[in-house]
Amino acid sequence: MNTTPERSYGDRAKDHLWMHFTRHSSYLEGEALPVIVKGDGCYFWDEHGKRYLDGISSLFNVQVGHGRTELAEAAAKQASELAFFPIWGLAHPRAIELAERVAAIAPGDLNRIFFTASGGEAVESAWKLAKQFYKLTGKPTKHKVISRDVAYHGTPQGALSLTGISAAKIPFEPLVPGSIRVPNTNFYRAPEHLRDDLYAFGQYAANRIAEAIEFEGPDSVAAVILEPVQNSGGCFTPPPGYLERVREICDEYDVLLIADETITSFGRVGEYFAMERYGVVPDIITCAKGLTSGYSPLGAMIASERLFEPFKHGTNTFLHGFTWGGHPVSSAVALANLDIFEREGLNKQVQDNQDLFLKHLNQLRDLPIVGDVRGAGYFYGIELVKDKATRETFNAEESERLLRGFVSKAMFANGLYCRSDDRGDPVVQVAPPLIASAAQFEEMTQILRSVLTEAWSII
Ligand SMILES: Cc1ncc(COP(=O)(O)O)c(C=O)c1O
Repeated sequence: MNTTPERSYGDRAKDHLWMHFTRHSSYLEGEALPVIVKGDGCYFWDEHGKRYLDGISSLFNVQVGHGRTELAEAAAKQASELAFFPIWGLAHPRAIELAERVAAIAPGDLNRIFFTASGGEAVESAWKLAKQFYKLTGKPTKHKVISRDVAYHGTPQGALSLTGISAAKIPFEPLVPGSIRVPNTNFYRAPEHLRDDLYAFGQYAANRIAEAIEFEGPDSVAAVILEPVQNSGGCFTPPPGYLERVREICDEYDVLLIADETITSFGRVGEYFAMERYGVVPDIITCAKGLTSGYSPLGAMIASERLFEPFKHGTNTFLHGFTWGGHPVSSAVALANLDIFEREGLNKQVQDNQDLFLKHLNQLRDLPIVGDVRGAGYFYGIELVKDKATRETFNAEESERLLRGFVSKAMFANGLYCRSDDRGDPVVQVAPPLIASAAQFEEMTQILRSVLTEAWSII
């Protein structure tokens, strides 16, 4: 191992660090690896002192922005008082306080907080709870879960099984059986006859869930899982009436509705939970990321009283858990994070500024490569197309050349960290920290304009 001081972190990383979802070949063949060393507000810096605008909140995490010493202090205080204790048969004050606080902001009677350390673990927990709940309540054959095309629900094998992205699943098959796919709410790609009627499209998409339940057999289906605004594919918002119809279908067939809010919660669309924005109460919410603004790992599965009820009796036990679920340090950080949300009115800040943000992004629609701009709050996808009039998309080779070969690198080189994604049709995703305002919207749009203009000239 060579750790001589002259070597940059970027070089040293190549020796031993196995990065996630990363094509190592490009770095091993000489491409520079950015190493991020510091953050402050909406910005972070690499080891060479270059500044970047964090246009995606470090993977949808840093809602309150970087560099909040208040969160670091909360972590330090908790670590010196009680660094760790599990919540297996015992408890500690921070998990209790955080459960109270999350229950108070969660919609409806979603009062039971099962902590995890990540979003994927929360999704995994939700599926397992759905199965065990029905086993305990006289419907033991209900076990399947319906999820939507192109949705990402995490990498544990259950959550991956629910993920609707074939390329992410094929290397790991066979996965957990019982995962069923239905259409998402991509209105831009709606069937031709529904292109002009958002409401009708929403009803169409929701009714595919009823169809799938009928096809699979209602006695076999335990849950539907969806993101209120689907990230993967580029911010598919729910058409008016869609979530209401899904709720109706779930009630009709006694199927649980799981809202995977790993990204959409904690202010991302201007409410603590996006389901509040759309006025529909699910049976379970899964969340992570913004719960601590990413300052410490924590996730949660938030379940309704109805789902907890069977576990109140006799020897019934949810035989499931994670050593680090509800970690004291992470719980303390989450509490301090919620203090910031309240004190600074971050949800209101998103509500007040979202139109301005969208106005900036909509200016990009004049570019020939921009087919659609969609999303809500501080959460948007910009779909790139080959032909605006026909909505023709890029083929795999073009998409590879465009997104990986150019757009991602050019944005970063120009000081903007956003995500270009071709898990569905090619999109650039933008989701800045919730403290971002006019100056950051302007900076982001200017960089995007210059990069997307150049992208058009190279395809
Ligand atoms: C909707 C959704 N669910 C689950 C996950 C998995 O979360 P984690 O990476 O914390 O396991 C993600 C991650 O981005 C996500 O976006």
